[in-house]
Amino acid sequence: MGDAVRVVLLPGDGIGPEVAAEARLALELLAPDVEVEERLIGGAAIRATGEPLPEETLAACRGAAAVLKGPVGDPEFDAADVRPEQGLLALRAALDAYANLRPAVLGDVDVLIVRELVGGLYFGAKGVRGDGTVYDTCEYHPDQVERIARRGFELARSRRGHLTSVDKANVLETSRLWRRVVNELAPEYPDVEVEHMLVDNTAMQLATTPQQFDVIVTENTFGDILSDLAAAVTGGLGMAPSASLADGGPGIFEPVHGSAPDIAGRGIANPTAMLRSTALLLEHGLGRPDEAAALAAAVEAALVEAPTPDLGGSASTSELGAAVRAQLGVDAVSGAA
Ligand code: NAD
Ligand code: IPM
Ligand code: MN
Repeated sequence: MGDAVRVVLLPGDGIGPEVAAEARLALELLAPDVEVEERLIGGAAIRATGEPLPEETLAACRGAAAVLKGPVGDPEFDAADVRPEQGLLALRAALDAYANLRPAVLGDVDVLIVRELVGGLYFGAKGVRGDGTVYDTCEYHPDQVERIARRGFELARSRRGHLTSVDKANVLETSRLWRRVVNELAPEYPDVEVEHMLVDNTAMQLATTPQQFDVIVTENTFGDILSDLAAAVTGGLGMAPSASLADGGPGIFEPVHGSAPDIAGRGIANPTAMLRSTALLLEHGLGRPDEAAALAAAVEAALVEAPTPDLGGSASTSELGAAVRAQLGVDAVSGAA
């Protein structure tokens, strides 16, 4: 079956395999023609091969239509030289998955954070000087800013036409570059209203009046922090999915949350973020918007009857997963009737 559409599943660490199992079952039910191939990443890969992103895993991801990924990270490796998170960063860079879409939706709040994912502080020069000073450097090339800013404009245009560009231009050179590039592009998108906001104020505004935002475009580190905050004000980390897209080539679809070592192994993790990431994969990765919408709706309906402990309920990971599949079954039956 060399011609089948192939998705690489990277279960990851901690609660990763628990939520990945539910995502796999939902994907197989919705899209039985899609081949799902599991590979190692993160701490699991270090234990098996010594490397957080084995060559074989990267090759499989490069050749796939899309990558569905659970969180990586394990306290066991926190002080080690080879760490699980290095595998994730290497994968994002190798696939050039620079456009990280992190939607946060609840009630009248509908924010889309567009986070630059392969530049800035994460990928700039870093090291130790002779006197013991340790440094990380925030670096951006204008082209890197332009391509993510264009994503922000395009997405704002397809939604409510409002783009908030978030920076720290009162202090950082890279932020002044960011602001200049956004302003230079703005005339090409006359239908989009652009606003610049400093990141500290943005955190406050997100916590108090998140309804004001449509699309937020921002650099890597700011986007990391603001997306956890946006998740917190729209139901919690267990609910927040993401899509990391390149210009062509496979995207990476993964929850915003981490491996949650505090609850791993207990079967109580909320699989919603992973399931919603699977819906984003169906939409953006496989170009199957109908199945994506069906999965998103099934998750919505299942949450009402089977909320997990982080949502104030008592359903296990697998109970919520089963409720989602039951919803998909109902939809499939009523759709066929
Ligand atoms: P975390 O997101 O793992 O957990 C923060 C809190 O949210 C914890 O209390 C946790 O129990 C809770 N939580 C997270 N996901 C949940 C879910 N699905 N259901 C219910 N509760 C959930 O953040 P952390 O504790 O700071 O990080 C733990 C590890 O995860 C670290 O090693 C970190 O590097 C890694 N991490 C990985 C990714 C990724 O792979 N994309 C993302 C973030 C953090
Ligand atoms: C995320 C995570 C990662 C990041 C870590 C695990 C490298 O926090 O996806 O938000 O900082 O990008
Ligand atoms: Mn994060």
